[in-house]
Amino acid sequence: MEPPYTAGLESVGREFDRVECPVEGTIPSWLSGTLFRNGPGRFEVDDQSLNHWFDGLAMLRRFRIEDGTVSVSNRFLRSEEYEHVRREGELKHDQFGTTAPSSVWDRLTGLMNPELTDNASISVDRIGTDPIAITETPRAVKFDAKTLETEETVEHNDGLSITGSLGHPHYDFGTEMVVNMGIEFGRTSEYVLFERPTDSHIRRKVGGFEVDRPAYFHSFGLTERYAILMESPLRLSPRSLLRDRPFIENYSWDDDLASRFLLFDRQSGEVVSTPRVDPCFVFHHVNAFEEPAESRVVVDVIAFEDSDVIQSLSLDRLRSGEEPVPGGELRRYRLPLKDGGIAEQSLFPGPVEFPMINYRAVNTRSYRYLYAAGHSGSVATGLLNCLLKYDLETESHTVWSEPGVYPGEPVFVARRPASEPGIGETDEDDGVVLSVLLDTRVDRSVLLILDGSSFSELARVQLPTVFPFGFHGQWYPDDERPHRTMP
Ligand SMILES: [Fe+2]
Repeated sequence: MEPPYTAGLESVGREFDRVECPVEGTIPSWLSGTLFRNGPGRFEVDDQSLNHWFDGLAMLRRFRIEDGTVSVSNRFLRSEEYEHVRREGELKHDQFGTTAPSSVWDRLTGLMNPELTDNASISVDRIGTDPIAITETPRAVKFDAKTLETEETVEHNDGLSITGSLGHPHYDFGTEMVVNMGIEFGRTSEYVLFERPTDSHIRRKVGGFEVDRPAYFHSFGLTERYAILMESPLRLSPRSLLRDRPFIENYSWDDDLASRFLLFDRQSGEVVSTPRVDPCFVFHHVNAFEEPAESRVVVDVIAFEDSDVIQSLSLDRLRSGEEPVPGGELRRYRLPLKDGGIAEQSLFPGPVEFPMINYRAVNTRSYRYLYAAGHSGSVATGLLNCLLKYDLETESHTVWSEPGVYPGEPVFVARRPASEPGIGETDEDDGVVLSVLLDTRVDRSVLLILDGSSFSELARVQLPTVFPFGFHGQWYPDDERPHRTMP
């Protein structure tokens, strides 16, 4: 039997431009700004379904909140990929789980001078005040903040030849730099740590680390001194890119390997420590911070036993609902900077994903609260169906759920101005949580607004249609410096 959530995996037929939406409940008067979200909007090319949830053509969503009212827009990113699909009825570039038609010669020349997709569907960032759609290639796409109209692909022209970059860049509030990591593929590949000023597209390499078989990465952790990669046994053989198969199928899980952390010193760019841990796979880092007195670094992640979760998110499997989606666990690692052992601790068994913190206040710092999507049923199958607030101090959690409802990533928006870093612990959850969810009972998407402290509902906004399950986004308050509510 078809699972109830398949409407969240279907293509969108209409674009809406700043449509006022009915609000039930009361939106706090201080909440004024714009939530941009990104994710797939179309899952077919010439009536053929793409293979993976991550392959869908990017569609931006814009939620404008002001004076207790909400208007919503959605618009496909008119990327080169999107226009090619519309014109030619086929992909121009390989996507995560679907190949584009190409010859072996294309692939050979592509390895030397790779052409990468600009189907930027993962998240949103900014260059100055211009929003950009971003993905796991360096090809970001600028769009208009009001109309969502596509403007241009960002050309970096900075001499960095990175072919993979992570979909979760960090922001350093002290230096006002965007910090990210990427991979330069080659006979010997290199993990590259780089940064750019918030108002510039010019990136600067901070450091690198060479490897023979690079792993697949989606995010990384940041402390004041370190950038932290978790390298899993899901490894690439560069030569396998010559074969006609999707990007992610060039990676395979090596049972003989452990996972290891790579701690990049953010000043020198050098990798100063590579502690090994039991094999696991991570999409999302939650937070990381240093404990100088103990001479160690704490790294919190959502950990999976292995990389099977990637295959479980293929559209076939999600639509059939016959096989479970593996659940992620909230896990803490304490990594020694000098001598001493590694401590691994399960903080919460989950299933959880899409972790979120009060980023402005506690990223790179010791913290108390995190929000996530979770599963509230007795059996962890299907998609995540509840929202969670987890208290690391009391080791307890609060759940919001309703039958037939499938929430997306919870976005925490602090009530306090973003210009106040390091607020006290008591203020950490003072704000709201925004989540776009699929309500299968009314067959449409809803913007839910929860109180960040009590986790009770403040308001819900009926959207004009179903927006497919998306990935990530950013909240930009109106009256403050732009960066940023989340990694
Ligand atoms: Fe992500």
